[in-house]
Amino acid sequence: MAEQSPEPHKILETMKGKLNTRWESQPDYGDIITTLPVGESWNLPSNFYKYQRFWYTPEYLKAVISAKQRFKPLDKDVILCTFPKSGTNWLKALAFSIMTRTKFDFSSHPLLTAPPSTCVSYIEFEQAQGINASREFPLTSTHIPYSSLLDSIISSDCKIVYMCRDPKDAFVSWWYHVNSFMGNNKEPIISLEKAFGLFCQGIALFGPFWDHFLEYWKASLERPDKILFLKYEDIKRDPSYYVKKLADFMGYPFSMKEKADCCVENIIEFCSFEKLSNLEVNKSGKLRGVTVDAEYPAKIFFRKGKIGDWKNHLTGDMANRLDRIIEEKLSGSGLKF
Ligand code: A3P
Repeated sequence: MAEQSPEPHKILETMKGKLNTRWESQPDYGDIITTLPVGESWNLPSNFYKYQRFWYTPEYLKAVISAKQRFKPLDKDVILCTFPKSGTNWLKALAFSIMTRTKFDFSSHPLLTAPPSTCVSYIEFEQAQGINASREFPLTSTHIPYSSLLDSIISSDCKIVYMCRDPKDAFVSWWYHVNSFMGNNKEPIISLEKAFGLFCQGIALFGPFWDHFLEYWKASLERPDKILFLKYEDIKRDPSYYVKKLADFMGYPFSMKEKADCCVENIIEFCSFEKLSNLEVNKSGKLRGVTVDAEYPAKIFFRKGKIGDWKNHLTGDMANRLDRIIEEKLSGSGLKF
C-alpha cells in the first residue's frame, strides 16, 4: 500500500479539488443538503448528512438521490444490496458467476480480468451516472437502504439479495478501507477508537448499520419470494448450501447434471478469497473512484476475508459495547449475530 498511495493529506487535497466534478451536469442538491442534520464524518473532507435516517457524504447523497431519478430496473433484475464491507465484492462474484455460467467458462471468465465491482455495477454510481448503463445481464448492486430504494424496484418483479456481516468485522473492515483509500498506513486518517465511537452512534457511511440491516430483514420476512437475506458468516461456513440457495432464489437453479459435474464447488472455488485476491487484476489493478475523480487500488477490497478478525483489533470492552448495541437494536426482530 505504502508505495502506491500518496500521503494522506495529498489525497484529501486532491479529493477536495475533485469532489463534484463527475456530477457537474446533475441537479444541485445544495438546497436539500442545507436542511439535513450534520454529523462528524470519519475525518473525510466533508461532513456526513443524515437523509431519510441514514448518513452520507454530500457526494454519496447526490448519488443516492440521482439513482432514484435515473435508474430503470431491467425485467428480472437481481439486485445485490449490502451494508458496505459486508462482502459485496464476494457476493457480486458469486451472483455474476451463477448467472453467466453457461456463457463463460473459467479459462476466459470476465472476473479474471475485471474486479467484481466492474463486472457488476452500482445503481447509485455507474447506473445513476449513465456509465455502463446498458447492462448485458440483469444484475446490479447497491448500498442504498431499503426505505430509500426506488419505487420502481420495490413495485417490480426484481429480486433483492441482501448481505450483511457481524458489525464488529464490518467495522474493522470499514476502518481499514477508509485508511487504505485515503492513507498510506503510516498515519491513519482516523484512529480506530474515534471511528469506533462514531460507528457505535450509527455514524458511518450508509449507517446506522442496525437500521440498514433491520429494514432489509423485515422486508425479507414480509416478502421472502422477493428478498433473500444472507449473512457473510453463513456463506463462509456453508458455501455449498448458500450458493445453491442463491442460485435457486435468483432463478438460475443448478441442474442435477451441473451438481454432478461439481459446478457449485467450482464457482465457490473460483470466487474464493484466495482465488480472487491473487488475481493480478485485484492485486495491482486500479479502480476509478465513483464519487471522487481519482483512481484507487482494487486490492483494498481484498484484505483478509476472515470471520472474527475484530478480535485482533477491538479490546474486550469495545467488543462488549458493540455487542450490547447489536443486541439492543436488533432485539425482538429475530435477527442475531
Ligand atoms: P476484510 O476487510 O474483513 O478482509 P466489500 O466487498 O463489501 O467492500 O467487503 C470487503 C470485505 O470482504 C473485506 O473484508 C474483504 O477482504 C472481504 N472479501 C472480499 N472478497 C472476499 C471473498 N471472495 N470471500 C470472502 N471475503 C471476501
